[in-house]
Amino acid sequence: MTKPHTTPRYSRILGTGSFLPPKRLTNADLAAQLALDGIETSDEWIVERTGIRARHFAEAGVNASDLSLPAARAALEAAGVDAAEIDLIIVATSTPDMVFPSTACLLQQKLGIAGCAAFDVQAVCSGFVYALTVADSMIKTGAASKALVVGAEVFSRILDFKDRTTCVLFGDGAGAVVLGASDTPGILATELHADGRHAGILCVPGTVSGGQILGDPLLKMDGQAVFKLAVGVLDKVARSVLEKAGRSESDIDWLIPHQANIRIMQGTAKKLKLSLDKVVVTVDQHGNTSAASIPLALDSAVRSGQIKPGETVMLEGVGGGFTWGAVLLDL
Ligand code: UT7
Repeated sequence: MTKPHTTPRYSRILGTGSFLPPKRLTNADLAAQLALDGIETSDEWIVERTGIRARHFAEAGVNASDLSLPAARAALEAAGVDAAEIDLIIVATSTPDMVFPSTACLLQQKLGIAGCAAFDVQAVCSGFVYALTVADSMIKTGAASKALVVGAEVFSRILDFKDRTTCVLFGDGAGAVVLGASDTPGILATELHADGRHAGILCVPGTVSGGQILGDPLLKMDGQAVFKLAVGVLDKVARSVLEKAGRSESDIDWLIPHQANIRIMQGTAKKLKLSLDKVVVTVDQHGNTSAASIPLALDSAVRSGQIKPGETVMLEGVGGGFTWGAVLLDL
């Protein structure tokens, strides 16, 4: 049991990792596959409307915990932390391996550790920002000292491949960070929001009941409604988090928004008066991977040397629920 702390303590990202399943489909590959069922789409439409060029799909039988494992191991290695030192695991996912136990418990078992707290967070595409906020709070209170925070999704399992308005948008993947207690802040400020009145605009309405699936188990989205809500909230939550941290827009070295649509990211950057070259964009490479998208983008930018130690990064999630939130941190 971790001892309670009386002196201020903070949390800091110690290492990042990510994993994309090997099966990669370009827009042309996906268009050819959909054409077999008479569904028309094109690379041109997908790139122009979303910025997506490819996505990765997990093979049958490969679940969110399987994608989490290599991402978690990479983050642990980058942090120089042994899995046995982890005292908290949070997995953000909307596509868990099972109804229960949590994907976090399954990941814990795959990592070969036992005893630490492990649970899932369900906030759809805002899941990683939610999970990071919870881990930050638990570290600050002394409830944990070294947390593994993962975003992992197999959205391919809940896509309706007869609905071209959604199936071209999403992909599978996982990203992870190791968050450790620190005397100096890494995470500077966080803020989370939800508005359940908009639950219906992005949902998977099905549920398991009496040994059957009741309702539709495939993703439904009113894309334009989600788009409008997203561009309406992302700059506001970013400003609010900056104010909490006593910082301003000009202090942001890198903006890492949820990787759903390049047009939403560009719109948010414009509203925040940030030049587009400060926005980390990986949506072209993996599409919308929901809770995995932010840690995938973060890990990619850290490993490529784009983001350097000490730089200030704004993470922003938005998605089903309707949920949104932001985390400002010094790397
Ligand atoms: O992760 C949670 C956050 N989710 C999001 O951020 C998604 C937010 N929404 C969006 O990104 C956009 O609304 C979409 C990418 C989903 C759609 O883009 P849009 O510019 O809003 O397109 P639209 O829905 O207005 O559709 C325009 C046209 C329609 O044809 P008509 O009615 O103008 O003849 C669609 O039928 O594009 C058609 N269309 C397609 N055409 C080719 C829709 N999907 C496709 C497709 N290929 N895959």
